[in-house]
Amino acid sequence: MATTETFQITPEQAELYEERFVPALFAHWVDAVLDAADVRAGQDVLDVACGTGIVARHAAERVGATGHVTGLDLNQAMLAVAARRGPDLTWQQGDVAALPFEDGSFDAVTCQSAAMFFPDVVGALREMGRVTRPGGKVAVQVFDLREDQPAYGPWIAMVGRHAGADAVRMLGTYWVHGDRELMCERCAAAGLRVTAIHNHERPATFPSVEAMVLTEVNATPLADRLSQAELEAIVADSYAIYEPFRTESEEQLTIPLTGYVLVATPE
Ligand SMILES: C[S@@+](CC[C@H](N)C(=O)[O-])C[C@H]1O[C@@H](n2cnc3c(N)ncnc32)[C@H](O)[C@@H]1O
Repeated sequence: MATTETFQITPEQAELYEERFVPALFAHWVDAVLDAADVRAGQDVLDVACGTGIVARHAAERVGATGHVTGLDLNQAMLAVAARRGPDLTWQQGDVAALPFEDGSFDAVTCQSAAMFFPDVVGALREMGRVTRPGGKVAVQVFDLREDQPAYGPWIAMVGRHAGADAVRMLGTYWVHGDRELMCERCAAAGLRVTAIHNHERPATFPSVEAMVLTEVNATPLADRLSQAELEAIVADSYAIYEPFRTESEEQLTIPLTGYVLVATPE
């Protein structure tokens, strides 16, 4: 599905993304991605759409001193945070549609929680395959369809009742690659052979319901798309929707999220 949503955010939002959203949600998927890509000592690894660099930093720990990790992202604000947190890695601004690397440059190419923002996902997969050496691995993590998300699904429907179409389109984008068969067809069209699909459920954990809403809004492109009144209405209604997920203590919120990591190799 084509989309014009590319998750472009400001320097302030990128800081909040790293501080709040990464530990709450994205950090929980990193091991699944790196295990699927079989990232090992001595390898050259590319993390596409690296954001603030959570996958790339962990990949660097695995490849060690004899390997190297490059993180690429469209967004300079994300890369500025990444460079501060991981000064020894290579960070490069660029578009997955035309990766600035020679054919077969990397042993493994990873892409976490970002393929839904690529307008031409087949073209992106083709580029990821092109820069992977023969026999190397491309590992792409995406989330399941919105209707298969027990907590996020109803929450987005509620947000849709308060917010404008732009906000809902942004929130709907995360789930557009949940159809595994379709993703396999896209890989075939991109010249990639799928070798495995690993299904996972990982929690998104927030200190409170309000913290969840403020993170979703202020650390993403949603910030500019909601009025204060809409935001307050969304916070108020979120307590009822998330009641079943407020575990451990009254305040803490743990939302289950499902998705998968697809592993492919260049044909
Ligand atoms: C939700 S963030 C995920 C970031 C990171 N992979 C993580 O797990 O934290 C999506 C990222 O995709 C990047 N992005 C979107 N379109 C892109 C493109 N065409 N090429 C490279 N990066 C892109 C955005 O700039 C953003 O950093």
